[in-house]
Amino acid sequence: MSATVIDGKAFAAGLRARVAGFAASFERSAGRKAGLAVVLVGEDPASQVYVASKARQTVECGMASFEYKLPVDTAQTDLIALVDRLNADPAVDGILVQLPLPKHLDEQEVVARINPDKDVDGLTPLSSGRLALGQPGLVPCTPLGSLMLLKDRLGDLTGLDAVVIGRSILVGKPMAQLLLGENCTVTIAHSRTRNLPEVVRRADIVVAAVGRPEMVKGDWIKPGATVIDVGINRLPPEEGKAKGRLVGDVATTEALAVAGAVTPVPGGVGPMTIAVLLRNALVAAHRNAGVALADGAL
Ligand code: GUN
Repeated sequence: MSATVIDGKAFAAGLRARVAGFAASFERSAGRKAGLAVVLVGEDPASQVYVASKARQTVECGMASFEYKLPVDTAQTDLIALVDRLNADPAVDGILVQLPLPKHLDEQEVVARINPDKDVDGLTPLSSGRLALGQPGLVPCTPLGSLMLLKDRLGDLTGLDAVVIGRSILVGKPMAQLLLGENCTVTIAHSRTRNLPEVVRRADIVVAAVGRPEMVKGDWIKPGATVIDVGINRLPPEEGKAKGRLVGDVATTEALAVAGAVTPVPGGVGPMTIAVLLRNALVAAHRNAGVALADGAL
């Protein structure tokens, strides 16, 4: 048996096209473009690439992009002051502070300062509380993108056994909440879980978000399961190469021999994250401007 490779790149392109359509109708109704602000502190090369990509795709979807690049030694008070300004700016519907922040900054305080109505990352205490309570709100981008891929493939997820490997605030915890909301039986596994291969073998749905290259092996996977690989890990370069290969948290070739469907790395979950960020920004814009958007339209 050979599994389906889930094409996250194509799904993300479709979502961006829908976002662009609704961004145009929003502009006609509201008399302004929806706006997304992205804040980057320091010069981490990977973060610079992500932030540039976010800004480009925001503009391509017909929204206004506001980019703030602050020096690595930015003071906590100055970053908080910027968040306050963006909170008060009516042209800004969504605010994303790129993580991780430099070590001297208090990430939790900065994130908590974001107006929950502009919290396109879904990381403020109010957004995560709403998710836990099953109330409408903004949901973290990578888990929501993963859920979209799962529902596209499987339809109704009711009653399925889901194992989420990883308990981060950005992915593992919100992913588990989303799957619970879809009536899955959810297990959150992590670095201290005993008999991890056995736990994973029970799962109809596996979401791997641990940041350990190719940790999930083919023989951990139940035949026919759907495997969502959130990991993006760069291996050490092979001889004569400048850069190492990008791999996920799943041994993809092995998994493809057993699973029903697997997301590849790259080209699986990765492209979904920014597409969902744009979706969240547009949803926030409609709410902030009081313009109606049909439930589930995006
Ligand atoms: N760094 C890596 N992924 C993310 C994300 O989804 N949001 C933010 N703010 N920072 C990140």
